[in-house]
Amino acid sequence: MQQLTLPRPDDWHLHLRDGATMAAVLPHTAQRFARAIIMPNLNPPVTTTRQALAYRDRILAALPQGSNFNPLMTLYLTESTAPEEIIRARQSGHIHGVKLYPAGATTHSDAGVRDISNTWAVLETMAEQNLPLLVHGEVTDPQVDVFDRERIFIDRILAPLLERLPELKVVFEHITTREAADFVREASGNIAATITAHHLTMNRNAMLVGGIHPHHYCLPVLKRESHREALVAAATSGSPRFFLGTDSAPHPRHAKESGCGCAGIYTAHAAIELYTELFEQARALDKLAEFASGFGADFYGLPRNTETITLVEESWNIPQQYSLGAGGAVIPLRAGDQLSWRLSDV
Ligand code: NCD
Ligand code: ZN
Repeated sequence: MQQLTLPRPDDWHLHLRDGATMAAVLPHTAQRFARAIIMPNLNPPVTTTRQALAYRDRILAALPQGSNFNPLMTLYLTESTAPEEIIRARQSGHIHGVKLYPAGATTHSDAGVRDISNTWAVLETMAEQNLPLLVHGEVTDPQVDVFDRERIFIDRILAPLLERLPELKVVFEHITTREAADFVREASGNIAATITAHHLTMNRNAMLVGGIHPHHYCLPVLKRESHREALVAAATSGSPRFFLGTDSAPHPRHAKESGCGCAGIYTAHAAIELYTELFEQARALDKLAEFASGFGADFYGLPRNTETITLVEESWNIPQQYSLGAGGAVIPLRAGDQLSWRLSDV
């Protein structure tokens, strides 16, 4: 039986929600990861340092006893975010990034940015304060096909942004295309990207062949196989610009199996196991530790974790669903399926 010991990994892109849902999903992440970058797209969004610190307190209060999981908080960028808020965020010591949602791009993004030129002063302050910008990289122009929105974002928004502010640290979140992987690998500037387990393991056929599969619908939407292959190549390349970010995004079953289903795939229940299985299939298990436990901390300027976790190559069955308490139930990725790696202490 093969075993693999890694430094405890970090999740550099996670949706925890709030209230009963948060309490239900948080143990999955806390069992596996030391830290996670917590997305601020609550309703209403987390736009101030004060709100982020209060949200952090709610997360800490919901943690299972004995857990020393550390939530790394973020702010939600709006066109009225003030530069002083960035300074407060940095001084708090608990806020590690500011999230750019193009308005209308995804779940709870209505309060996001319509015109990036209205945020230059804030972005300049972030560069000075060394606070990373985390971008949902899709244009929202209704003329642009949904499968092209990430590629077009690079040319219209991201490349000009890096040119204007080369010192600003930018994380291109949950990349889904060959163009994004190529851009991040080659760009001059201070850029990196997170890659999800679902974009590494599925293409758009998983969403659309043999019926429509709402639990495989997320944003940015799954792309064709050649893009998935480019993402696997990037994740297993050993480049420090690519690291783990699950984008685990729980929605209750009824909100996904609906006439207008929500975007988001739940992977926190088996996050590191899914990446491990994929890296093994790609014959790149030796590249997993840096991708999952090293490069992200380096990019964010945080110390690497010293604790370890052990994975065992042994099949287990993923449940059909997990309860969200009063929030209903969430259908996890690979529900009812077998996974070939398990965490040894769960
Ligand atoms: C995320 C969510 O549900 O909050 N959904 C998703 O499909 N990834 C938002 C996001 O990261 O785009
Ligand atoms: Zn997300």
